[in-house]
Amino acid sequence: MKAEISPERLMARVASLGRIGALAGGGVCRLALSDADKAGRDWLVAEMEALGLTVFIDAIGNIWGLRAGTGAGAPVMIGSHIDTVATGGLYDGALGVLAGLEVVAALDGAGIETAMPIAVAAFTNEEGARFAPDMMGSGVYQGALDLDTMLATRATDGGGVVGEELDRIGYRGTDAPITPAAYLELHIEQGPVLEQEGTRIGAVTGVQGIHWTEFTVHGQSNHAGTTPMALRRDAGQVATRIALAADRIAAELGPPQVATVGVFELSPGLINVVPEQARLTVDLRNTDGAALDAPTARLLAEARAAAEAAGCTVEHRALARFAPVVFDEALVGKVAQAAAARQLSVKRMPSGAGHDAQMFAPDCPTAMIFIPSEKGLSHNVKEHSDKRDIVAGAQVLLDLVCDLAGAKT
Ligand code: GLV
Ligand code: MN
Ligand code: MN
Repeated sequence: MKAEISPERLMARVASLGRIGALAGGGVCRLALSDADKAGRDWLVAEMEALGLTVFIDAIGNIWGLRAGTGAGAPVMIGSHIDTVATGGLYDGALGVLAGLEVVAALDGAGIETAMPIAVAAFTNEEGARFAPDMMGSGVYQGALDLDTMLATRATDGGGVVGEELDRIGYRGTDAPITPAAYLELHIEQGPVLEQEGTRIGAVTGVQGIHWTEFTVHGQSNHAGTTPMALRRDAGQVATRIALAADRIAAELGPPQVATVGVFELSPGLINVVPEQARLTVDLRNTDGAALDAPTARLLAEARAAAEAAGCTVEHRALARFAPVVFDEALVGKVAQAAAARQLSVKRMPSGAGHDAQMFAPDCPTAMIFIPSEKGLSHNVKEHSDKRDIVAGAQVLLDLVCDLAGAKT
């Protein structure tokens, strides 16, 4: 007997988690280590326990639930995250974790044991929207990021430190991570490609490189009416030039280079005061990691020149530096085969977004399954994926887990 996804059970869990941190008018805000994140975690742990999973929590607050196999050894892990950006949707991250729960429920319902254990994991702070860098929990789990440095990370808005926030919400655990035998992640595409092409499943070949940089410009406040233009030390104008430089550099390089200025703050932020300080962030991404070094260096040089010309100073902090990652070719092939076996059209494609999967790729066979995102929208409260696609993606995940973990049908 083959295990089948229950659409109702899966969608009920999507709706339940979607109510935690729900925003009026749609979408969710479950910023990492916030009260809403704690509520989501409490709900998830209760769901795992109800499914009979043994729950583990490590020192950075990653949660994983283990379903025993008939044999010992490392598990096949299904992972993603339940934190969101402040204006997030119901599916980014949540879908991967909830599909993991559904895989376990479907196997239990069909009375199917597997030779290898199965782990369902939710990693801390994948988004990086409150604490940089992103992929923090999976990075610590796999050893790419230093635990103590991450625990000491202050929130980008100054409100809270990772270690203290973990203590506050009760999720600083002591369990030791185990490297899985294989890692799988179902995720919404978060871009327009699958929908535009009418393709049902993406077999993800890898994840592009990410450079996040924060700039702080220091100038001098002065009166907006009385200070001649030539005598100003206007931090706001310098910040604007840095933002425009990021846009121009991306335009000159062309696709696949992208650039985003997501944070832009002026201080004191008053209509009639020349800003004395500006803070902005630049997110640069490219599928070719080496190709990211040059635009980053150019941006830093342009920032220094703009500050100097305006009598200001500029500091920068590297908030994230992730090289591109290539997923295991054999496992990517299995994703494509599993989709084809269910008569689902499939496209091999890179991921534009960062994912926990990229932290596992160097250490174990890793692959991701993408499903279409309506209108390519994500990191947006209107983020949506069709139920039919959600169920199809979860079914491909379940079939793959059965294959990899040795389902005894
Ligand atoms: C995480 O969602 C990222 O790609 O920024
Ligand atoms: Mn995500
Ligand atoms: Mn995201």
